[in-house]
Amino acid sequence: MSERVLTGITTTGTPHLGNYVGAIRPAIVASRAPGVESFFFLADYHALIKCDDPDRIERSRLEIAATWLAAGLDTNRVTFYRQSDIPEIPELTWLLTCVTAKGQMNRAHAYKAAADANEAAGEETDAGVTMGLFCYPILMAADILMFNAHRVPVGRDQVQHIEMARDVGQRFNHLFGRGRELFVLPQAEIEEEVATLPGLDGRKMSKSYDNTIPLFEGGPRRLKEAVARIVTDSRLPGEPKDPDGAHLVTIHDAFATPAQREAFRAELRAGLSWGEAKERLVALIEAHVGPMRERYAALMAHPEQIEEILQEGARKARAVATPFLAELRQAVGLRAMTAVAQPKAKVEAHKAALPVFKQYREADGRFYFKLSAADGSVLLQSQGFAEGREAGGWVKRLKTEGAAALGEAPVELGEGVQRAAVEDALAALVAAAQE
Ligand code: TRP
Repeated sequence: MSERVLTGITTTGTPHLGNYVGAIRPAIVASRAPGVESFFFLADYHALIKCDDPDRIERSRLEIAATWLAAGLDTNRVTFYRQSDIPEIPELTWLLTCVTAKGQMNRAHAYKAAADANEAAGEETDAGVTMGLFCYPILMAADILMFNAHRVPVGRDQVQHIEMARDVGQRFNHLFGRGRELFVLPQAEIEEEVATLPGLDGRKMSKSYDNTIPLFEGGPRRLKEAVARIVTDSRLPGEPKDPDGAHLVTIHDAFATPAQREAFRAELRAGLSWGEAKERLVALIEAHVGPMRERYAALMAHPEQIEEILQEGARKARAVATPFLAELRQAVGLRAMTAVAQPKAKVEAHKAALPVFKQYREADGRFYFKLSAADGSVLLQSQGFAEGREAGGWVKRLKTEGAAALGEAPVELGEGVQRAAVEDALAALVAAAQE
């Protein structure tokens, strides 16, 4: 089976150059690898947690979808959809909510940060905390487990959420899987290779620092303006510059070939002015981003095309989610009423096939028991006991502890019987007792 890679993009805000270099571009490149089946989705239910402005939600979903498509996402290869188009996700969220420990959610970073900030400010711990924020990791676990993703590329801040998804998935498997792995347990994947792009002031490029370079917004003019604001040292034109200390160079590196990187460094060492360096940087970024910006504009002018692509993505995603959720509903006991009569008959049949213990007294006055297979052959034969209670005690232990009690029990295997066969028979009895 191919490996499933899944990641979600929270639809708040407008993507900037840092999002492109740090997340969008590497995800698209990775989706082209052979043997990989990628699921990328707009996490718009998650966006609702942080934003109660419907127009911003709408706008951001459109812009982010258009950005990914313009950046070269191949929706024939990748399943690209909106979380909110998959009703199976909130339904699975509930099944998972029912097996998630509240204490674990208390420790989730996003909630804990809010609670700690409240306490530091002398407010009530949960002031302003919605259940959406509190349960955020469960919705995220449903996103991931719904598609049995093996790998989940995320930023470092999301690693705890992936661990929670593993945990919840494991608990669900244990409770309802009957020895089968219903869910694949996902692995977080942090892109160590991809350096986070520095912003205008050298800190990580982020909207919250107000140091971003726009990706498409405002065209080449805004790009030029932003690059002009990149902070450099005050070396004059003609003075040699240290390329390795300059974040302008780091941004350049993100778009340059190895040869271009070398040439740029050499020119700076030889005294290239920062003004000219910025012009080169604008030209380099524009060479990459320009053609994408045109595709972006064309898509934004035809939202119905984006809608159609996402609807098709939802169809593909639901082709996986719908049958899987049906299986999960079965597993937890949400079954058709007509099925209720059947399990009984099945249990009868099943019981008939189980091995049985028999206790009896021999002519020597001692008490014995034996375990016989469904066909009557003897699997285990006990020694004689003075008291019936003793024999009964061993039978009880073997029935509840199974093979674990076999080592101590005063019994012998039946003639020609393999120990493994006895262990299997006991395991079947233990399982039946738990039903
Ligand atoms: N919470 C993620 C973020 O803010 C977005 C997200 C939602 C996600 N569901 C996901 C990421 C599932 C990976 C897998 O970045």
